[in-house]
Amino acid sequence: MADDAALSNLSYEERVFPPTPEFARQANAQPSIYAQADADRLAFWEEQARHLTWAEPWSQVLDWSQAPFAKWFVGGRLNVAYNCVDRHVEDGFGDQVALQFEGEQGDRRDVTYRELQDEVCQAANALTELGVAAGDRVAIYLPMIPEAIVAMLACARIGAPHSVVFAGFSAEALRSRIDDATAKLVITADGQNRRGSAMPLKPAVDEAVADCPSVENVLVVRRTGGDVEWTDKDVWWHDIVGRQSTQHTPEAFDSEHPLFILYTSGTTGKPKGILHTSGGYLTQVSSTHRNVHDLKPDTDVFWCTADIGWVTGHSYIVYGPLANRATQVVYEGTPDTPGKDRWWDIIERHRVTILYTAPTAIRTFMKWGDEYPQGKDLSSLRLLGSVGEPINPEAWMWYRDVIGGNRCPIVDTWWQTETGGMMIAPLPGVTGCKPGSAMGPLPGVGAAIVDDHGTPVGHGSGGYLVLTEPWPAMLRGIWGDPQRYIDTYWSRWPQYYFAGDGAKWDTDGAIWLLGRVDDVMNIAGHRISTTEVESALVSHPKVAEAAVVGANDDTTGQGIVAFVILRGGVPAEEAEGDAIVTELRNHVAHEIGPIAKPRQIMVVPELPKTRSGKIMRRLLRDVAENRALGDATTLADPAVMSLIAEGLKSGADDD
Ligand code: WTA
Repeated sequence: MADDAALSNLSYEERVFPPTPEFARQANAQPSIYAQADADRLAFWEEQARHLTWAEPWSQVLDWSQAPFAKWFVGGRLNVAYNCVDRHVEDGFGDQVALQFEGEQGDRRDVTYRELQDEVCQAANALTELGVAAGDRVAIYLPMIPEAIVAMLACARIGAPHSVVFAGFSAEALRSRIDDATAKLVITADGQNRRGSAMPLKPAVDEAVADCPSVENVLVVRRTGGDVEWTDKDVWWHDIVGRQSTQHTPEAFDSEHPLFILYTSGTTGKPKGILHTSGGYLTQVSSTHRNVHDLKPDTDVFWCTADIGWVTGHSYIVYGPLANRATQVVYEGTPDTPGKDRWWDIIERHRVTILYTAPTAIRTFMKWGDEYPQGKDLSSLRLLGSVGEPINPEAWMWYRDVIGGNRCPIVDTWWQTETGGMMIAPLPGVTGCKPGSAMGPLPGVGAAIVDDHGTPVGHGSGGYLVLTEPWPAMLRGIWGDPQRYIDTYWSRWPQYYFAGDGAKWDTDGAIWLLGRVDDVMNIAGHRISTTEVESALVSHPKVAEAAVVGANDDTTGQGIVAFVILRGGVPAEEAEGDAIVTELRNHVAHEIGPIAKPRQIMVVPELPKTRSGKIMRRLLRDVAENRALGDATTLADPAVMSLIAEGLKSGADDD
């Protein structure tokens, strides 16, 4: 496996933090839940599904006869948006605040469940007027504003699968995603507030849509104001949504009706459109949100800091929490605007009780210093969560002490875009947690760690993480490419889903996630494939060849380091200057988005290759991490590494 060093270096963690008796007593998930799920896994998931409101009951829990293409709650029918909004109003909670929205510039807006229902109905009517019908795809390219959530729910309500594209992605990334899903409508905004200024969004959409014949209309939310270019496809959100009726009858769709497509990086350049469906997905995200985040809808204020452009925003801002009638904070901006205490200020003012965030953010706050959180009253917090990448024990302890005041359980939750919902995580009222470990599979989830032959390894050993049983929120495939679904996840060991992560059992039976074993990097909790960045670099006219590796980074987990060979015609003085590095970094930002900008670009005369022409990334990682070179005996040209060492040039890290 790729991560031998990480495996053998893992030190034994002795510290265990059991839940307090007070927390344990009030927890939604009690110890018996494990035994219950072990005794009858499918009956356990059926019980979780009964928390939802179904228009038609299912006749079969799981149909796995077409494995690996699962069907859950076969024959059942439901409307996902009805489950997330209307039923709470019908139950008498129309005045409960669903969203406590806070804009970066300080503007605030509370949206009650009744208001959310009205807006989702109006948006659903508007989509229908624009000719969007069940099954049509809608691309959503919006900042973190209430309309983003309304747009997703309106799509769900009419059965039009949405494809949310992170608003930090470039026009090119947006174009390829619209194109792959042949979206009929794009929902966007004029701009978004980032770090105190208004950043335009609409121009990227114009650029993308110009090359996407499938798009009939672009629906534009006015967020930042100011002039925007207007085309005959464009419609203002406030014009068309505002004049619709607030009445809309939700249609019940089949449990397997597609709910959304979300693109994620794979090991080849082309992003994969991960397909999720309705009944099983909503069952698992609401169940895990109830059991792992321990939501009490009458008293909690939940805050998941993710963006709706990622799966965490789909599952733990929109679908899980709203299905469970949460009151939650939605924040538009960055953590350091106007000051480095913005998050702690939000927690103090909204009396947030449950915080769900990513290790990269926690490490950034550690670096900024304790004075920022300590200057605010965080005593409302009662549970903390982590997601997106391994959390190192130091960051876990800091999170516990400085943010959680030593009283809040921490749930480190492992899952993926593909799994739809949490898979490996502690139960906060049951599990004694070790700092840095996601502990074990949740009730109803089957996981194992296997060696190269697919044989499960025991406690004290490491290998590849696999999932051994189908689960309700599992992806139903890759949009338009069923074979790629099988090849990517089900071919290495056909009986298991291969997650692409390395993992280890410690001698006490806790699971430690060890990062990706494939060519996918994890940058600040975001998956970016090495090939994707390489093809972006090679698409620049001055680049002949590129190799990209993820190198350890204290803050972001991994940082992107690129090695490029320039084309013959580039003059030496240009190849040696800093301008080329800046130019290439900006080029990657243009092709993919600023999050994919390499931390460092090294212009080199050669790349280390084996005799068969395979780039030896292991050696490049050694260089990128300033380590002594590992075994270089299989290099075709042993001199190449000293050439690289001489030619090193780094790029400035300006964002
Ligand atoms: C990593 C994000 C360790 C892992 C929900 C996985 C984690 C990838 C954890 C999925 C965690 C996510 N501990 N690693 N708690 N959570 N990962 O699809 O490598 O954006 O395969 O989904 O993030 O990233 P994705």
